[in-house]
Amino acid sequence: METFDALCKRASVREYLDKPVSKALLEQLVDAGRRAPSARAVEPWEFVVVTERPTLDKLGAMISTGLFLKQATACIVVFCSDTKYYLEDGSAATENILLAATDLGLGTCWIAGDKKEYCEDVARLFGVPEHMKLISLISVGWAAKDVKQRKHRLVKDVLHWEKF
Ligand SMILES: Cc1cc2nc3c(=O)[nH]c(=O)nc-3n(C[C@H](O)[C@H](O)[C@H](O)COP(=O)(O)O)c2cc1C
Repeated sequence: METFDALCKRASVREYLDKPVSKALLEQLVDAGRRAPSARAVEPWEFVVVTERPTLDKLGAMISTGLFLKQATACIVVFCSDTKYYLEDGSAATENILLAATDLGLGTCWIAGDKKEYCEDVARLFGVPEHMKLISLISVGWAAKDVKQRKHRLVKDVLHWEKF
């Protein structure tokens, strides 16, 4: 798939088939994440890949907007050390993972991390050091149904040539 096709195809997937995703594919997603740009090239990210059902269930119970984690096949939890641009860097890594997953035919959904009340609980669950920030949790799996990309604001409505 061409990069632009993946951009046009990506959509949040919250229902998954009961079908495993191989370790090799999950590793490829992390490979995509770690290739993101980062301010001053500090690469502050760490990725926790979860495939065990009890842990996915715990995350689903912890995160009200991520209940569907209970039936996701995997979850990639993105943490960054507390650098000046941790949120931008971690978000770039997250988006890389979403696009790579689309390219591989996998469904994903970005679940909020930063500033959420469950940040500490999630970090504790994985034994993550205190100085690290939770950026996002990415549910991963094979989509249970076809999900079309939603309608986005049009180029003509968002593009301002030279002046706002
Ligand atoms: C920073 C951020 C946080 C998000 N948090 C959640 C979340 O907690 N739960 C969820 O179901 N979707 C979450 N989403 C996904 C958005 O709801 C989704 O991207 C938006 O509705 C647009 O739909 P699309 O991804 O299909 O284009 C989040 C997306 C972003 C960028």
